[in-house]
Amino acid sequence: MCGIVGYTGTQEAAPILLEGLKKLEYRGYDSAGIAVLNDNLLAVSKVTGRIANLCEKTADGKNCPGTVGIGHTRWATHGAPTDTNAHPHMSNDGKFAVVHNGIIENYIALREELIQKGYHFDSETDTEVIVHLIEMYYTGDLKKAVIRMSARLCGSYALGVVCTDEPEKVYVVREASPLIIGVGVGENYFASDVTALVSYTRNAIYLDDGEFAEITPETIVVFNPAGHPIIKKISRITWDVQSAEKGGYEHFMLKEIVEQPRAIKAAIAPRIKNGDIALDEAELTTEYLESVNKIVITACGSAYYAGCAGKYAMEKLCRIPVQVELASELRYNDPLIDEHTLLIVLSQSGETADTIAAMKECKKRGAKTLAVVNVVGSTIANTADYTLYTWAGPEIAVATTKGYTTQVSVLYMFALYVAKKMNRIDKEHYEKLLKILSTLPKKVQETLDMNSAIPALAKKYHNADSMFFIGRNTDYAVALEGALKMKEISYIHAESYAAGELKHGTIALIEDHQPVIALCCNESIMEKTMSNIVEVKARGAEVLAVTFKDNQKMVPLADDMIFIPKMDAIFAAAVEIVPLQLLAYYVAKENGCDIDKPKNLAKSVTVE
Ligand code: F6R
Repeated sequence: MCGIVGYTGTQEAAPILLEGLKKLEYRGYDSAGIAVLNDNLLAVSKVTGRIANLCEKTADGKNCPGTVGIGHTRWATHGAPTDTNAHPHMSNDGKFAVVHNGIIENYIALREELIQKGYHFDSETDTEVIVHLIEMYYTGDLKKAVIRMSARLCGSYALGVVCTDEPEKVYVVREASPLIIGVGVGENYFASDVTALVSYTRNAIYLDDGEFAEITPETIVVFNPAGHPIIKKISRITWDVQSAEKGGYEHFMLKEIVEQPRAIKAAIAPRIKNGDIALDEAELTTEYLESVNKIVITACGSAYYAGCAGKYAMEKLCRIPVQVELASELRYNDPLIDEHTLLIVLSQSGETADTIAAMKECKKRGAKTLAVVNVVGSTIANTADYTLYTWAGPEIAVATTKGYTTQVSVLYMFALYVAKKMNRIDKEHYEKLLKILSTLPKKVQETLDMNSAIPALAKKYHNADSMFFIGRNTDYAVALEGALKMKEISYIHAESYAAGELKHGTIALIEDHQPVIALCCNESIMEKTMSNIVEVKARGAEVLAVTFKDNQKMVPLADDMIFIPKMDAIFAAAVEIVPLQLLAYYVAKENGCDIDKPKNLAKSVTVE
């Protein structure tokens, strides 16, 4: 949820920390701070609000000289977003400063213990116990103090620690929260996300749970939890600097919507070889697949809705029952999962706490796990038995767009792959569907091109108090995600309903001028949804239909229309969501919302 950065080298640290924090601001943006070491003294600057405030306070870092430092951008969990609760937190003796991403679950007991020992606390945060524990255990050796401190913590944490007695060193520790070391020449970095590192280096070391490291300008030594040095691989970061920047767009969200044809192409095209699907990273044998009696898809938020969209294709093509489960529920449900279950885990960030916990629970019960993940080297990618990367590139806007469509596309591809492996599809049908799959990037591009009226429609609908998104079957799956997009960035209350459910209660809410967004892109069931449109129109609703271009049947029914190109419903969700992303974007823009950083949200939900 929060973002952390650190630097040790020969350049001024503060501007590097501030630049890194700007890149991480999407992870949390209610307060921020930096601590820089200079002449064996720690200078700490903290502010409430955005990184821009911190830049102003520090004169873009000029007021904080020094070549070693750590920084933090916060999404508040324990204690309100105030200057005092902002990180870094300092020890009572002023020797240590700490930044933390995650949650310390046993902080209350530790806090009481430390208070009894005479330490005083400035903030309400869970993090502050960490810095006092380090002070308590420090006897002239920071490494030993870090080991003893870590052994006392329960929860999730990525930490950066600096100490005035060991002024060139930065210590970092990882437990269930992402932490990456950027390897430079005569200088080194760390961050909770590669986006903060790509401007400086392409060489990265991904820490695993329980590991910690001592970083100086010239050296990086990684240790296991017992403190023994271990050899770590240096990985190459493939994301480029431009893809983590706005590139002329007003918002990252719009840029990422427009990037979808390219992102979907990157997800599927390299996996189609010689007219066939080759999933080299997830070569499941026919024998194993025959032993699977159900597929469970688990995820949170939009990724969960991507699972809902994938389920239709998977069941239709593979004829295996598919359950889609919210990870936050599955993890506590004593799930009926065993070695005959294939668990598919969807996550853009690869760091969502509930999704990780659900995956671990299912692994324990014998399920094989297949992760569909965007962020390379993330916890979910590393924990799963198989990982299919979505190759969407960095997604910075908090509301996911290309993350969702690439997840759906990879699920479609996987469904087709399994159907063929299990001999559940004939050659002709397989070839036809593979062709449709390969044209998804083109269909998304056409959708972007044919909806220039959406900004005008946003002007008409942006004053609504609430919106209903209705659809059936594959259209219903898209309605779920469409409503979420509208809610989270425009703050308009939006509900999704299976259109057939309206008569069972919800239709009571339909009155004059109530906007109803009706999804009608599945020909097999379109007539039924059209009847529901007639019903809501009869009660005064204003209907905006999402349907095929030139769908004449819809003209007399809908007040307004937005379009996708005509296509088979089985793979349509990845295309059909695109005009709804645009609608949410332009409605939010009309309403003057902070589109890339919606209130109360953060990009990567690394706490429960
Ligand atoms: C909504 C959104 C969230 C995420 C959810 C899971 O636009 O982005 O609902 O989909 O928090 O995140 P990941 O995919 O990173 O596990």
